[in-house]
Order: sequence, then structure tokens, then C-alpha cells
Amino acid sequence: MPQTTTSGRAVKAVIPAAGLATRFLPATKAVPKELLPVVDRPVLQYIVEEAAAAGITDVLLVTGRGKTAMVDHFDRRPDLEQRLAEKGDDERLAAVKRPSELAAIHSIRQGEALGLGHAVSFAESHVGGGAFAVLLGDEFMDDATLLNEMLDLQARTGGIVIALLEVGKDEVSRYGICSVSRAEGNAVEITGMVEKPSPEDAPSNLAIIGRYILPFEIFDALRRIGPGSGGEIQLTDAMALMLKEGAPVHGIVYGGVRYDTGMPLGYLQTVVELACQRADIGPAFRQWLVEFVGKEL
Ligand code: UTP
Repeated sequence: MPQTTTSGRAVKAVIPAAGLATRFLPATKAVPKELLPVVDRPVLQYIVEEAAAAGITDVLLVTGRGKTAMVDHFDRRPDLEQRLAEKGDDERLAAVKRPSELAAIHSIRQGEALGLGHAVSFAESHVGGGAFAVLLGDEFMDDATLLNEMLDLQARTGGIVIALLEVGKDEVSRYGICSVSRAEGNAVEITGMVEKPSPEDAPSNLAIIGRYILPFEIFDALRRIGPGSGGEIQLTDAMALMLKEGAPVHGIVYGGVRYDTGMPLGYLQTVVELACQRADIGPAFRQWLVEFVGKEL
């Protein structure tokens, strides 16, 4: 399998999904947060669809204890497919097959949840060489334009490309925050990054969100950093090290919809938005929602 397209764009993606998901307990005690349904598809399927729409053909899921159902979701189910075919239920048959047709899905186990950077480091031998995308399995983005632009920019610069979101001053301490210099359209050159700063210390309001295109050298940087914020091996620290050593680091400021499905509020917002957009249940759901909200206020 080639590591890039002929134009040099990465074709492999890594989805770290081995975290403990404490913000969504007790739902996530036995069920991975990535498998919580948004209407009728698990969150993770939307993420893999986003990757596939941006030209990714190979996805590595980094999983952990109790997370094997995640891989099963992307497998074939011949028994189910046969039953649906016999019943002539073509729509459901296509829906059941779809996850297995999006990309080649692989998995590896992290073993111990020692941080996002630690999870990414498990992808080294699968990636094999060249750049690759990282998509967090609990962040929903409503279209693949962002990832597309990021892949193009990385193919041109050869460095790190990260997705950025403008956040409120009171939110900066929940994110990695970047200082930036030159801007061209929605692309910016990054000059520094700091993990979870206080509002007074934050160099900007541009937060790092869950989409990254990383060069292969990130694996070496991950080996050279120690535990960071929260005692975890932080991906931000490895990127900051590469930046300090002269690697080009760019960001694309995202202007679309993004939800953190790893906590109840963000998850519910995703469900409501996507339910409203659906051609089948959308009209009835919207009508009910308007009436319900009107009654509650
Ligand atoms: P989060 O910061 O959301 O952590 O990780 P978490 O453990 O999943 O959830 P909370 O904060 O306890 O509720 C960001 C992403 O990195 C993955 C997570 O699965 C999530 O997609 N991750 C994090 C790993 O794969 N391994 C880790 O050791 C840590």
C-alpha cells in the first residue's frame, strides 16, 4: 500500500480511541464512547466517513480494553447481510455493508492509557513512513473540507498541520493553544504552542482541535519527550519539540461545526443537529423539537 498519493497527500489515518472516557461515565463503563449512536450510526462511523471523503484509504484504530466492538462495526456480517438480502431490504443491506466499504480498517491495542501521544506512538510500524492523519474518535466535524485542506497543505509544506478553532477566553485552559504569525486565508504559521494555559498566559484564543496531519518524524519526537500535563505523554509536547527544532508547523482555522461527543452536552448537540438534517426523520423531529422547546420555556 503506498504511503501517499502521487501528489504527496497522506492516505493513512490513525484514530486514537483508547482513552478512559471518564467525562461520559457511567455510559462508557462497558461501551466505548466512539460507539454511542448518533441517530443510527456510531460516532466513529462519521469520523471514518469524514476520513474517506478526504481521500484516506487506510485507517488504524488505536483501541484498548473493552473496545473490540469498535473493530467489529467495520467488519462484514454475512449472516445479517444474507437475511436482509432475502427480505429484499436493500436500504438496510447497504447500510450494514457501508462501514466495511469505507476504508481498510486495522487495529492495535494501546494496553495502558498513558496519553494521546502515547496512543499515536503505537501507529509507527503501521504507518511505515511518510505523513499520516490523526483524527480524534470523539470529535465530530460536519464536513471533510477541513481535512482535505489540511492534507493539501501538508503535502506542500512537509511539516505538521493542525486544525485550530477560535475559542472564548474562559475556554483556553481546556485546550492546547497556539501563537501564530503570518496568515494566508484560513491558514496560519504557528510559532508556539502551550498545553492548557491559564487565560492570562494564553498566547491567543486559537485552540488545537482533533485533526492533525503529522510527518513520520513525530514518532522520534514522541520517544524524546517525557510525561507532560496530567502526567500523560502529550502529542502537543512532541509537536512543540519539532517546532522548536525548526519543523514547519501550520494551522487551518476551522469555521464549521464541531462537537465534542466525548461528553453529554456535545453528544446531545450532535444528535439533535444530525437528526434535524435527516431527510427521513428530520421534518417530524424538528416539529416535535420546536413544540417541546416552546413548552419548556
Ligand atoms: P480525551 O482527552 O478525550 O481523554 O482524549 P479520554 O480518556 O478519551 O476521555 P476523558 O477526558 O477521560 O473523558 C482525546 C482522544 O485521545 C484518545 C481518546 O480515546 C480520545 O479520542 N486517547 C487518550 C487514547 O487513545 N489513549 C490515551 O491514553 C488517551
